[in-house]
Amino acid sequence: MKKLLSMVLALVLVLGLSSVSLAAGPTIGVCVYKFDDTFMTGVRNAISKAAEGIAEAQIVDSQNAQATQNDQVIMFVDQGFDGVAINPVDRTACAEISKKTEAAGIPVVYFNREPIAEEMTDFDNWYYVGAKAEESGTMSGQILVDYFTAHPEAIPEDGVIRYVMLQGEPGHQDAELRSIYSIKCLEDAGFTLEALAVDTAHWNRIEGMEKMTAWLAAFGDKIDCVLANNDDMALGAIEALKAEGYFTEGKFMPVVGVDATAPALEALKEGTLLGTVLNDAANQGAATLLLTVAAVNGDFTGFPYEIVDDHYVWVPYQMVTEENYTDFE
Ligand code: BGC
Repeated sequence: MKKLLSMVLALVLVLGLSSVSLAAGPTIGVCVYKFDDTFMTGVRNAISKAAEGIAEAQIVDSQNAQATQNDQVIMFVDQGFDGVAINPVDRTACAEISKKTEAAGIPVVYFNREPIAEEMTDFDNWYYVGAKAEESGTMSGQILVDYFTAHPEAIPEDGVIRYVMLQGEPGHQDAELRSIYSIKCLEDAGFTLEALAVDTAHWNRIEGMEKMTAWLAAFGDKIDCVLANNDDMALGAIEALKAEGYFTEGKFMPVVGVDATAPALEALKEGTLLGTVLNDAANQGAATLLLTVAAVNGDFTGFPYEIVDDHYVWVPYQMVTEENYTDFE
């Protein structure tokens, strides 16, 4: 903090600036696994907004490289930051990061990529802000349960619903659990499912479009629905479907995503995306910043979210369909 103040003062002297607002509150170093991610951009903006007037947050891009992120954490520690908030590139790297922050005596709040609980038992001063991945899987499955219940004619005569699935990054809790729980929800509702193709598109819209284009070429109208672990991949799939004449002249394909990003809400409005699940970037970002500040101050009074099992803040998901999407715009 002192170092930062003297740097700001030096800047004032060198540049002859007449008014510079000095940082209020603690200095927080924030690493985002990569800036080029639609959902994380929402979280990043929410962190900056929550920091206004209460903390000095420096947010850096880890460029999807764990080695780069480790260097950034060391830099924050060496520069005397009061606390860090980390969106890990690789969630199995959290123990290594916690070794560094505990040695420096500062708190770390992980967000969006959940530490592996068994790897964290040696550490105290860490938290995780995220959402229960299985909940989002169940909700995206429920959107399809509602669709096939309302449209039994969309189920093939043999009673088997054939799906393709675009998954997020392997190893990410959201990719793994959304994939499992969405199908489980449909099966629990009594439907019979068959996977035509399941593959990762790394949360990425272009990869989603490419995979869907290949699947349409391979399976054509055998595909009954598309499940995507996030909206960007769902939107990529919709582009591929549009190129094959879907969403015109009564040719429909139920596609579900997760996140409720602005472009996904647009797609819901135009009637191409069947539904999505709100992954609440605004509250996840705010909770991350406020929790880091509270942990730095050792004072959690007024912290507006519940802390579960001493470490976890869970932000709820919400189902978003044509019935309620205007509430989220
Ligand atoms: C979101 C994805 C995002 C990923 C980044 C997930 O929770 O649904 O859109 O790419 O987090 O880690």
